[in-house]
Amino acid sequence: MGMAAETAHRRIWRRAGITVAIVVVVVPIVFVIALAVRFLPDRAVVYDAPEDHFKYGSTGGERNWGFPYWIWRVAPEVCADLMPDRRPGDVGYESFGMFYEDGEDLPVGVSKRRHLGMDRVFLNCAACHISTVRETADGAPRVVVGMPANTFNLGAFQKFFFDCAKDPRFNWKHIVPWIEQIGGDLDLIDRYLVYPFAIWLMRDLVQLIESRFAFTERQPPWGPGRVDTFNAAKAKFNYPWDKVPAHQLIGTTDFPSIWNQRKRKTREDGEPMELHWDGNNDKVEERNLSAGFGTGAIPPVTDHDAIGRLEDWLLDLEPPDFPFPIDRDLAARGAPIYARYCAACHGKNGDDFSGEYVGKVVPIEEIGTDRWRMDSYTYDLAVNQATLYAGYEEHRFTRFRKTYGYANMPLDGIWLRAPYLHNGSVPTLRDLLDPSALRPAAFYRGNDLYDPEKVGFASDVSQENGKRYFRFETSVAGNSSRGHEGPAYGTELSAGDKDALVEYLKTF
Ligand code: HEC
Ligand code: HEC
Repeated sequence: MGMAAETAHRRIWRRAGITVAIVVVVVPIVFVIALAVRFLPDRAVVYDAPEDHFKYGSTGGERNWGFPYWIWRVAPEVCADLMPDRRPGDVGYESFGMFYEDGEDLPVGVSKRRHLGMDRVFLNCAACHISTVRETADGAPRVVVGMPANTFNLGAFQKFFFDCAKDPRFNWKHIVPWIEQIGGDLDLIDRYLVYPFAIWLMRDLVQLIESRFAFTERQPPWGPGRVDTFNAAKAKFNYPWDKVPAHQLIGTTDFPSIWNQRKRKTREDGEPMELHWDGNNDKVEERNLSAGFGTGAIPPVTDHDAIGRLEDWLLDLEPPDFPFPIDRDLAARGAPIYARYCAACHGKNGDDFSGEYVGKVVPIEEIGTDRWRMDSYTYDLAVNQATLYAGYEEHRFTRFRKTYGYANMPLDGIWLRAPYLHNGSVPTLRDLLDPSALRPAAFYRGNDLYDPEKVGFASDVSQENGKRYFRFETSVAGNSSRGHEGPAYGTELSAGDKDALVEYLKTF
């Protein structure tokens, strides 16, 4: 072979070699990088102001339970007939009592994160700890951070997703056209790869949650403003519901307010306050973390920085003042009555939480309120909770314990915490000061219209502009409005003294 031919030959081989190298090495690398760029980013939408982060920010739960953003957006269209009381003009989840602020595409209490190549959304703390108040029937609702989510019907919301994910319409053929109709610009990868997979995954995830949450089928409906906290915690351990004793199967509670956590750290005697309705945990940080589980934020995925920021902010967050006129003379007459009957258990006033029994548990025999919530929390569950996430030493639960009553808590912002008692069975403060035989046997929940006379939300309106409120029956298991009555609890005071006491409580 001559030199020239050999060189040409080599050149050809070299070119082929380069081509092969490109195909074998470079193309896959580029492909992997492209995939990585597409699928690896894990970015929460971050808000500088803690209040905005509370409303819309992530604490990490979407990594676990996040719904694909576009599925969240179109589910109310795809399963329109499964939405209760949808009204013209609703843009999304209003019929579950969620609300949207101007210019936002997600309701308050829902956060977004880029994860696994798509935007994923899920409930955050605000879903259960924020709400609105209307001072007049046609007035604008005012958003109050940290108050119980009085209008949000989590049970109905959950059921909607359980039913929709099982529905034959919950498939690519139906969902993708809806996404395009409402302006979702899916590219080819989204359309043929990400979303088909996401739909399949979400159907599976929702069905898994539904099977773990099978206890809800054995319970009366929660209605707005309530959830079963600790049966949901049992779901994490896959409790076999048919073997759980019947008296432990209903733990439905009212959402609490979460203001002033710093003052809830320490009682008068220097020990930490025992809180949650039954006083089963005396550490604020653990209560926050355990609450985070409700948003899918379990330790391996929890954004501890985000929770930490919220936690710091919640330490000193305060309730707003009562916005209606207060009769100062009448309130002044109520102050000594409060001091005499209530202060030892509930604190000196709305700012000063000192009091001999504040943050301690009153035995059930003494307080006499509905015992279902107390019984739903078991020694067994406390032991199980202590085993969670053994690899996350600093975040393990160590403070959960079984108690036998309900906790004495401070009454800051009490005007916004109606309906009252742990199960939300008494609509107004004035009703709570009557013996249980005189408290309403049934009333409506879910209204944000305020009743400044009786101090609570309008509870005798069954519907308004096509929105039906939830009829709460105190005869239903878990809903009893008995207890917190008798001479020690002010229910035998004169009508005039009760009015004075209610007036005073408006200043809290
Ligand atoms: C699904 C609704 C829900 C979500 C979401 C939720 N919480 Fe709660 N939270 C509750 C309920 C219900 C209780 C009362 C539990 C009980 O005692 O049964 C509670 C209790 C608390 C308490 C204790 C209040 C007290 O004084 O006893 C704090 C603090 C708290 N939540 C903070 C948070 C934070 C922070 C987040 C977000 C990481 C959060 N919650 C998310 C429903 C929720
Ligand atoms: C022996 C202690 C004790 C005394 C005295 C007492 N309470 Fe209570 N209070 C409790 C406990 C415990 C609860 C929670 C019971 C439950 O939810 O089942 C409670 C609940 C409440 C609630 C509902 C809180 C909420 O967020 O829903 C209000 C309001 C209240 N008490 C006001 C008063 C007033 C006013 C007085 C005085 C007339 C008073 N209490 C006297 C222990 C006490």
